[in-house]
Amino acid sequence: MKTIIVGGQYGDEGKGKIISYMSITDDPDVIARGGVGPNAGHEVNYKGKRYPMRMLSCGFVNEKARLLIGAGVVVNPDVFLKEVDSINAHKRCGVDLRCAVITPEHIARDGASETSQKIGSTKTGCGPAVADRVNRVGTLAKDSPALKPYLTDVVKEVHSAKRVLIEGTQGFMLSNLYGTYPFVTSKDVSASTIAADVGLGPTQIDDVVMVIKSYTTRVGAGPLKDELSVEAAKAKNMQEYGTVTGRPRRTSVDLHYDDLRLAAQINGTTQIAITKIDVRFPGNAGKKKFADLTLEAQSFIKHVEKEVGVPVTLIGTGPDAEETIDRR
Ligand code: IMP
Ligand code: MG
Repeated sequence: MKTIIVGGQYGDEGKGKIISYMSITDDPDVIARGGVGPNAGHEVNYKGKRYPMRMLSCGFVNEKARLLIGAGVVVNPDVFLKEVDSINAHKRCGVDLRCAVITPEHIARDGASETSQKIGSTKTGCGPAVADRVNRVGTLAKDSPALKPYLTDVVKEVHSAKRVLIEGTQGFMLSNLYGTYPFVTSKDVSASTIAADVGLGPTQIDDVVMVIKSYTTRVGAGPLKDELSVEAAKAKNMQEYGTVTGRPRRTSVDLHYDDLRLAAQINGTTQIAITKIDVRFPGNAGKKKFADLTLEAQSFIKHVEKEVGVPVTLIGTGPDAEETIDRR
């Protein structure tokens, strides 16, 4: 069983929470990360503690699972080693030999780049590291002394495991191919690319779970329909701040169904996970059954299913991994 989890909006949909939930309930042998790199910030709240992860999968909460980083990801060895230490997971983390490495020079180049400034990049060196890889001048993990103890062949591990969760990063609208170019990240981040990032082909994927938040946020520059003022977002309890950069996120109270339909189509989405239903509809915090949701929240979820044409199987009702309604 191989399941991919992708973001359906502009990142920050709550993938970390959904991945940590599924890593417990679905009990995967291997959790492999695809996507861009440490520009991503996935947050897990687990047993009363908050873990902001940028390189390792949020599935670490399942202590038996292997935590792998696929070849398509650009790796910052410092961030990786710090996170391995922070969750004390030295024995179960692995980096594919073929990953490209982010160097201090990449971070400096990202910081000084006019384009990065214009699009509101996270300036974590991801774009320059991806560009160097494309230009065939990149440094690979197999040549990094710091990563040596963790090097592995993720392709072999993923293909020999029984149950695999594959964690995508960013969100569909930030895809370099299908998003709001040039206000996008440096790679496509749809499910097909995430599969290739970890060494899987399209016919080997059983399910694609697209995570969306009950409202829309975007961090960095670029178009955002029906954007609210910070004051209005605060009044609705929807004002958020970036996990990686701490920047205030821009908010739009609605879901953008044209974009979501396209995202569902190109991702080959089989299920939707919707997060923060308790924020959009007060009175639903911590609910674990669909029937216990307020009627307004229930009809919103039915509306999403009808508009996007994909069943909503997971519903987040609070920050903790366990605050989830599971209709699978
Ligand atoms: P970069 O990929 O860091 O160069 O950033 C390009 C754009 O994508 C900027 O608008 C970033 O704010 C946005 N971005 C990149 N990664 C994420 C993410 O994981 N969550 C939200 N926004 C992101
Ligand atoms: Mg994030």
